[in-house]
Amino acid sequence: MSPLRFNYLMVSSTTNTVPATTANLGPGFDCLGLALDMTNQVTFNVIGAGLFIEVQGEGAESIPTDETNLVFKSAERLFEQVGHRPPGLQIVQNNQIPISSGLGSSAAAVLSGILAANTLLGFPLNDGEVLTLATEIEGHPDNVTSAFYGGLTLSMFNGDDLIVEHILVPDMTVVVVLPAFDLPTIEARAALPELVPLSDAIFNASRVGLLVRALEAGDYGRLRFAMQDRLHQPYRMMLIPGMEAAFKRALEAGAAGVALSGAGPSLIAFAPDRHEAIEQAMKKGFAAAGLESRSWILPIVQKKSSQ
Ligand code: HSE
Repeated sequence: MSPLRFNYLMVSSTTNTVPATTANLGPGFDCLGLALDMTNQVTFNVIGAGLFIEVQGEGAESIPTDETNLVFKSAERLFEQVGHRPPGLQIVQNNQIPISSGLGSSAAAVLSGILAANTLLGFPLNDGEVLTLATEIEGHPDNVTSAFYGGLTLSMFNGDDLIVEHILVPDMTVVVVLPAFDLPTIEARAALPELVPLSDAIFNASRVGLLVRALEAGDYGRLRFAMQDRLHQPYRMMLIPGMEAAFKRALEAGAAGVALSGAGPSLIAFAPDRHEAIEQAMKKGFAAAGLESRSWILPIVQKKSSQ
């Protein structure tokens, strides 16, 4: 860490919690995100010099604890943008969100670093600037905006302006199943075509509208069709063994709708009840393809990330 440039700290310690998020929800590729009740907690303590990072929980074995750490790098971006930096930092990450899972662990890391840095410097960035910086680092806005606001978000860019709609949804429950299979987001994005047929674009546009209405109303009955997608899931399905079987089994077991979570490899299913049966059915789909899986039954998180 470079030496102190300016001493402009408002507080010397801050802790924030940021939730897991599931992006896309089927048709809302790169624009819809939903926060789930699973969180990462990050504490920043300002110290005299140096950088000390400790990671507990998910990713403790693999997340770097040097200057390449994503929480730290994201905080650094804010320090650089604002022109002030603490002399040294101790960072403690306590993670519940599995890494490389499609549950927004990188968005949570980016956002928690930015929120911590913003708090230490006395909030030089407003909410919109925080989200714009987080999206710049993350590459797409769906996970960071829903992690920030909680609940459901619809995000898009108009030129350089990030537009975010925070959509109120009733309490709903989501089954999440994560196969023991490594699928880097970069690979899952590389599998997508440059161009899609107009009929597929219309298919998705109509379903995004229906999906937002259905989620706002807590209308499980509409989800089966509203969560269908032709822009990314058909291409990614070929990369994830057991995904097609897990989709089919989820619906047979009573899921109202099922989708790939973000770029995968985890899957999500919405249902008003029978959550355990759906969870087991999806796990069996992956097991039939030779993959073990972890799973959670999670409520939606409705509240804004704490700073
Ligand atoms: N919307 C992104 C994607 C989410 O599907 O690639 C990745 O976390």
